[in-house]
Amino acid sequence: MLEVRNIEAGYGRSRVLFGVSFTVPAQGLVAVLGGNGSGKSTTLKALAGLVKPTAGEIVWDGERIDQVPAYQMARHGLVLVPQGKEVFAAMSVEENILMGGYHRRHEKAQLRHDLEELYALFPRLAVRKKAFAGLLSGGERQMLSISRALMAKPRMLLLDEPSAALAPKVVGEIAEVIRGLRGRGMAILLVEQNVAMALELADEIHILREGRVAHSCVNGPGVDIASLQEFYLGQGAA
Ligand SMILES: Nc1ncnc2c1ncn2[C@@H]1O[C@H](COP(=O)(O)OP(=O)(O)O)[C@@H](O)[C@H]1O
Ligand SMILES: [Mg+2]
Repeated sequence: MLEVRNIEAGYGRSRVLFGVSFTVPAQGLVAVLGGNGSGKSTTLKALAGLVKPTAGEIVWDGERIDQVPAYQMARHGLVLVPQGKEVFAAMSVEENILMGGYHRRHEKAQLRHDLEELYALFPRLAVRKKAFAGLLSGGERQMLSISRALMAKPRMLLLDEPSAALAPKVVGEIAEVIRGLRGRGMAILLVEQNVAMALELADEIHILREGRVAHSCVNGPGVDIASLQEFYLGQGAA
């Protein structure tokens, strides 16, 4: 289980997170929603060790990880799929995927096995494995970005707006992939602006506004787009 306790973080002198708290149960799927600039990516970067919290604690399976450097976070099982579907454009699809397993590059047979598993999960990537990643569609790049993260064998995947700038059909495919990973026991922290996607997938939902959790709820009957939108837009704080 992941516990985020009252973290503050920012960039230089500008503070972005003002005491953010939430938990993600082992094998749970928790969504963090919020508008542009509300601090969603900064929260994920803090979890991935890319931004050091200046206050608060991040506890993962009982161990504090808020001072663990980013390059060691994969060994702790937390892996970030960054916003923007970034890939190494001039490298092949397969080379991109293998980059995610770089820290275990000596386990050749196991890597090969994991690669084949990923190709079964993403048949489109298998077809295009020799193509330059820069030539992929947006949906394929998102799948590639997720595949690269999966090569690091995460116990928790941190997904930053995987549905952004994708056609509805492709968003549906990504949602299926996320559901499948969760079904295989992976914990997932899903950051989104797509409220419908969060409602479809998440057990719990938190809404960030101006670096604070403005609303938290368990997803279920009575939780719908309208009920969340008021917090999202900043009218439901009271
Ligand atoms: N690298 C950075 N340097 C300085 N300010 C940043 C940086 N990244 C984000 N910010 C600022 O932090 C705030 C929150 O950004 P971010 O966490 O990316 O929000 P979100 O992901 O919810 O859109 C914004 O005001 C943004 O301008
Ligand atoms: Mg962001």
